Amino acid sequence: MVMFKVSRVTTSPFDGQKPGTSGLRKKVKVFKQQNYLHNFVQSTFNALSQDKIRGMTLVVSGDGRYFSKDAIQIIIKMAAANGVRSVWVGQNGLLSTPAVSGVVRERVGKDGTKASGAFILTASHNPGGPNEDFGIKYNMENGGPAPEAITDKIYENTKSIKEYIIAEDLPDVDISAIGITNFTGPEGQFDVEVFDSASDYVKLMKSIFDFQSIQKLLSSPKFTFCYDALHGVGGAYAKRIFVEELGAQESSLLNCVPKEDFGGGHPDPNLTYAKELVACMGLGKSDAKNEPPEFGAASDGDADRNMILGKRFFVTPSDSVAIIAANAVDAIPYFSAGLKGVARSMPTSAALDVVAKHLNLKFFEVPTGWKFFGNLMDAGLCSICGEESFGTGSDHIREKDGIWAVLAWLSILAYKNKENLGGAKLVTVEEIVRKHWATYGRHYYTRYDYENVDAGAAKELMAYLVKLQSSLPEVNKIIKGTRSDVSNVAKADEFEYKDPVDGSISKHQGIRYMFEDGSRLVFRLSGTGSEGATIRVYIEQYEKDSSKTGRDSQEALGPLVEVALKLSKMQEFTGRSAPTVIT
Ligand code: G6P
Ligand code: ZN
Repeated sequence: MVMFKVSRVTTSPFDGQKPGTSGLRKKVKVFKQQNYLHNFVQSTFNALSQDKIRGMTLVVSGDGRYFSKDAIQIIIKMAAANGVRSVWVGQNGLLSTPAVSGVVRERVGKDGTKASGAFILTASHNPGGPNEDFGIKYNMENGGPAPEAITDKIYENTKSIKEYIIAEDLPDVDISAIGITNFTGPEGQFDVEVFDSASDYVKLMKSIFDFQSIQKLLSSPKFTFCYDALHGVGGAYAKRIFVEELGAQESSLLNCVPKEDFGGGHPDPNLTYAKELVACMGLGKSDAKNEPPEFGAASDGDADRNMILGKRFFVTPSDSVAIIAANAVDAIPYFSAGLKGVARSMPTSAALDVVAKHLNLKFFEVPTGWKFFGNLMDAGLCSICGEESFGTGSDHIREKDGIWAVLAWLSILAYKNKENLGGAKLVTVEEIVRKHWATYGRHYYTRYDYENVDAGAAKELMAYLVKLQSSLPEVNKIIKGTRSDVSNVAKADEFEYKDPVDGSISKHQGIRYMFEDGSRLVFRLSGTGSEGATIRVYIEQYEKDSSKTGRDSQEALGPLVEVALKLSKMQEFTGRSAPTVIT
């Protein structure tokens, strides 16, 4: 057995190692600076109590982006030196973010061991490669992201770190081969287990969904399907689940080979970046000669986000979670006993609120960031939740889950079509959504993103919008001077959240302008970028009249968009005459 020594290495702090909404994300070049990753990892170990780390099992894996393999070896060596007992690594370092959450919660290792934490190596939907982004975040024993109390501590530690400890002479572990490698250090045994990335996750999905009924749908010649992993880690699960378990054609899978640079693309499943899928589904400027599939979906780099499409039809994430919640009890066995409650992030449209009211469910509006849902779920208050940012999930884990969302939609389609697979015409995605609007009303919704804006200018714009809130007459004057057909603002504030479980308060979670007719404008700075600032403008309008729920959404929202840009002086502050991305 290989013996290793522990070395103490002197280091000094780096600026800016403050974890954002989902961990620390920076350019690879920043992460490659000597000791940069080491400082963050040691600061994390130091933020957790010593007795938690000693003897623990730690999961280390991610979306496989460039620099992951080097990072995994460094973390293994540091874990060994810090007294961790076992490190679990998905084969080739691949585990989707939801799979990590599931592994921490469910996987049982040899001698009945369970993991109690994880380093997830991903920058989610940000591009990868030598000149792009890398990221790291820590998840706790419940499988969810570390709470703010811990991430604040990590950040404090990064500002004063003087040394880290590492087993420098520990040989690199071959993470391409499944198996266990044993080592001995000053404090006893240490081992690294490399395991199949998909098995535990597949087992979990099978315990939630009725695979047989989905298989019937997928094998029906009338149903066509397309899934795009955007070369992210979703590809490591897609073939196993959709093809091997559910019988989809292999040709249904697009970009399902995980790549370190995501094939040069931007692995974010939205209408702008998932170009190939969007064209294949007959949306946008499509020159597709073939009839588009009935159902299409994509996931991001680490496979926690999802986009759901029907034939020539886009399902907004806000509608998606509302529709899943409305159908879950009937279509998904995991929920057959009823929902404990539902939740959405503040900028997400109120489509879910209407369903919650209708079904008499507990409902929560939380700040952006999945960790807020985790608290509700741990307390048994929430079963299904979602965000406008293409995140949907449930209390089966403590992360959002891209493939779960696809399986949820396939379950709904299978349920609605269980009588139709033989002869009758299939109920389509579009029909399901339109019927939902007719029942619950429609929340027209769009988001404008201004990416990589000068950080100072973005701050000024936000400060200006907060100041403007103190005078509603002034706000309404600007509105009427811009569009007389837009209603007045009745209330404006900055969203603040008091966690009903732990009582913690999160302030400054987005600037809201709420209109008399129920429309809403929200302005927020992104917490996930790695360079400059990204301003997000969320625009929403409720239409209850079922004869008016079928309009084109950009057209319906045109007047409100105009008002949003005028109110915020977008062009004046940022110099931008158009957003980078519209979703
Ligand atoms: C990550 C989090 C989500 C959150 C999103 C917001 O994906 O996991 O919970 O909604 O970031 O990103 P933003 O860039 O808007 O801060
Ligand atoms: Zn992601």
